[in-house]
Amino acid sequence: MTETRLTIESLGHKGEGVATHDGRRIFVPFTLPGETVLADVSDDRAEAVRFEVTSPERIAPECPHFGVCGGCQVQHLSPSLYRDFKIGLIETPMRRLGLEQPVDAFHDARGEGRRRATLHARREGAGYMRARSHQVEPIEHCPVLAPSLASAPRIVKELGALLGECDVSLTATEGGIDAAVRVARNRTRPDALSSLFRTLKLARLAINGEAVLMAGRPFVRIGLAEVDLPIGSFLQATEAGEKLLSEFVLTHTEGGSRIADLFCGLGPFALRLAERGPVTAFDSDKPAIAALGQAAPRTRGLKPIAAKARDLFREPVTRFELDDFDTLVLDPPRAGAEAQVREIAASRVGRVVMLACDAQSFARDAAILVDAGFALDHLTGFDQFTYSSHVEIGAVFARAVTKGTKRPFRP
Ligand SMILES: C[S@@+](CC[C@H](N)C(=O)[O-])C[C@H]1O[C@@H](n2cnc3c(N)ncnc32)[C@H](O)[C@@H]1O
Repeated sequence: MTETRLTIESLGHKGEGVATHDGRRIFVPFTLPGETVLADVSDDRAEAVRFEVTSPERIAPECPHFGVCGGCQVQHLSPSLYRDFKIGLIETPMRRLGLEQPVDAFHDARGEGRRRATLHARREGAGYMRARSHQVEPIEHCPVLAPSLASAPRIVKELGALLGECDVSLTATEGGIDAAVRVARNRTRPDALSSLFRTLKLARLAINGEAVLMAGRPFVRIGLAEVDLPIGSFLQATEAGEKLLSEFVLTHTEGGSRIADLFCGLGPFALRLAERGPVTAFDSDKPAIAALGQAAPRTRGLKPIAAKARDLFREPVTRFELDDFDTLVLDPPRAGAEAQVREIAASRVGRVVMLACDAQSFARDAAILVDAGFALDHLTGFDQFTYSSHVEIGAVFARAVTKGTKRPFRP
């Protein structure tokens, strides 16, 4: 293969350098704008073989596996370029839809590090998948994990040695580490599994969605509450992220008296909002709704939470039902919340505080709200997926005049 000289012009949304060659855009991982590289080009992708010019914005990565391991994409960016890259992830898809709102604040939400992660055990070892590969990069340590998950690579390696090739999701809870394994077939002898479970000091071991061993109670503290963690339920990646997102929600729902938390999960927002007043909370994850429904009444100092299991894609809360609320919190999965947002657009709700983990679907949903007469008042970034090409978004949409009335909206 002949080497091609490429000059990197910009960063793509996956953190790869982008060059133009023969009129085509070529993506070159681990390169930066302003750099010139000799690269092996294959279709629209290239691998930098030699750097002729390097950028002053390039810094040494924190992890020796960076560049091979597929877990991180952008450890080589200076702090200012890193921040610009993450803000660009939010602003670019919005600009494409005619929404020119700039990001008004950007918060580092790394905190102590990630409290949950999925690693893979394969013949070659335990770790994350290599970039664009089905091979695992074996690791001993991952710097983006919280200290409470420092043993994650060892746990996954030992589970793999016993169970064979498997994927393991680990969550650090107040009751210890919760491990959920996905494996083709579990033929392990129960006594061997119990012995490893005790050695690894896990709180719970689930295999293919079912708890097989339990030593402690895996639970998380959310505000004043203790919430049992169901197997596979969603939890914000870092504790700092959960706290910052919750502060954003609490600040921007201030004054709302009839609040619904849509896509509430285990209730990090609902449980904190309930310190101020009653909340109605919806999510399709039945075990999460049950855990929230049990935690709220046993927590002193909370107003009632009505926790409801409902698929908001198929059966969004309708424009008529939304008459019960003046303020909504909305935190959908990556696909966004198009069906729900269309109902909100047609409703008389005055304020929507939206959190999002996918900038493309967020931009689509934001445009629906803006077209319906909402003003986008705040747009904030939260970085809990450190060194990845993901970013969390917080946004506040408010109507100057509540739809269907002549009165200005007063929360
Ligand atoms: C990004 S998480 C947010 C959860 C919670 N707000 C939090 O901060 O932990 C998205 C949530 O959407 C829920 N979800 C996914 N698809 C859904 C659907 N079709 N209807 C309702 N909830 C859904 C998931 O169960 C998950 O709890």
